Amino acid sequence: MGRFYVTTPIYYVNDVPHLGHAYCTVNADAIARWHRGLGDETLFLTGTDEHGTKVAESAESHGVTPAEWTDRTSARFQEAWRSLNVSNDDFIRTTEDRHYATVRTFLKRIYDNGYIVKDTYKGLYCVSCEDYYTTESLEAGLCPVHRRAVVEMEEDNYFFRLSAFEDRLIEWYESQPDAIRPAAKRKEALSFIRGGLKDVSITRTSLSWGVPVPWDEEHVFYVWYDALINYLTAIGYGSDDERVAEWWPHVHHLIGKEIIRFHCVWWPAMCMAAGIDPPASIFVHGWLLVGGHKLSKSMAGEEDSPVKLTEISPASLTEDFGVDAVRYHLLRDTPLGTDGEFSIEGLTSRYNSDLANNLGNLVARVATVVGSKCGGIGPAPAADSPLVAASEEAVAGALAAWEKFAPHEALEATWRLIGAANAELEATAPWKAEPGTVDDVLGSALEVVRIVALLISAAMPATADEIWHRIGLSGSPADELLPDAAQWGGYPGGLVVTKGDPLFPRRK
Ligand code: ME8
Ligand code: MG
Repeated sequence: MGRFYVTTPIYYVNDVPHLGHAYCTVNADAIARWHRGLGDETLFLTGTDEHGTKVAESAESHGVTPAEWTDRTSARFQEAWRSLNVSNDDFIRTTEDRHYATVRTFLKRIYDNGYIVKDTYKGLYCVSCEDYYTTESLEAGLCPVHRRAVVEMEEDNYFFRLSAFEDRLIEWYESQPDAIRPAAKRKEALSFIRGGLKDVSITRTSLSWGVPVPWDEEHVFYVWYDALINYLTAIGYGSDDERVAEWWPHVHHLIGKEIIRFHCVWWPAMCMAAGIDPPASIFVHGWLLVGGHKLSKSMAGEEDSPVKLTEISPASLTEDFGVDAVRYHLLRDTPLGTDGEFSIEGLTSRYNSDLANNLGNLVARVATVVGSKCGGIGPAPAADSPLVAASEEAVAGALAAWEKFAPHEALEATWRLIGAANAELEATAPWKAEPGTVDDVLGSALEVVRIVALLISAAMPATADEIWHRIGLSGSPADELLPDAAQWGGYPGGLVVTKGDPLFPRRK
């Protein structure tokens, strides 16, 4: 047992939450829940990034002030996470006083340490990226990410002396081979650093929607420079040194692959410049893509219009499939670290195969046969069941997988156990046997169901609770301590087992 601090990127409020944001947040949530299950003191942070030109432009185009706009859109992120049963311990908004205070303290330390200097900057700026581009990095003269025209900007700015950190960053990368995962992303960041680092402009006078620079109030910090610091704001940097010392060594940033440079180059250098350790670990995930597949009509609007991922609201899916089915799909289908194609067909087929046919079927079958052969009272498991080994493998597999940020693998391991239990039931066919001869096989199946509830609780908390109660247990699998609670033999027997409605009715 230790400490575990996990963060998502803080999302821009120029847009409403979409499935890509949900992918990252649900993965972070499940990882946080797993660590709580291990007994780790856990802090899970998400939030919204509310400054910058892009947000100011969105507010203007909606005819409201930035403050009104960010209140409104930040609330939509909070609602989206509530509706996906996301268990964040804190939700940070960069417009909060606590964030202003931390940003100003942190950057003042960098300034006092001599790593922020004044200079003139001229370059091509993409407002959507909130970033400068060189002419060579444009594609057909447009921002390669947004296909949007860049604008020529010239500003008298403060610069962060990123170039001074090349050697120290390389040293850090070499001494911390696992700090950035997967390895391919580490390599990408490292080769960027080896290619040479330029100083970065970190303040703006062209807009006022930002955190004022403490030593020169005419400037505000460039949005990325305030945003990254949110991870320290949440643990009280600048006001509670003890809390920072407790949590900072255990931080894990989960981020999308398009923001590697900010997190894996700038951020560690900023930490070094302020005199604190770089983040303990950064895990880079890939993108969910939508292409080539037609989505359901209700979402597409027009049958033929292609739907972009950013148009899929998590709520439209949870209303249709249920919260846990969507969570399961997000965790199971696209391994963290790779890109994945999202489609309604894919979601439906996984729902039917994994949830309806495997998990749902196991739970329903066991309850039905316990009803018909054991008077609805669940027997205790057999110590020598053939399922003992399968269950031990699943627990070990899940432990190792969550540890390396591989929720899909943890679920795969768990579903192998579900498959083994279904196969064992097929082989022994207790529904055909005489009552009195089936206690061992049914008790062992119930024990598998109990262990499965423990193993899926991080991914599908409500389903895990429901299953737990159906086999007569009280409380919640989330309150048990892993991995001990998942050892074979925990199901006491003698409990009332209820059948209930199908957990995951099959879909067309
Ligand atoms: O970049 N697939 O915010 P943002 C998977 N405010 N994940 C996706 C995704 C997709 N298609 N689209 C978005 C910002 N994401 C900054 C971050 S952090 C100090 C500041 C997820 O609203 C992914 O995690 O553009 C990505 O990194 C994040 O949303 C970007 O959200
Ligand atoms: Mg983005």
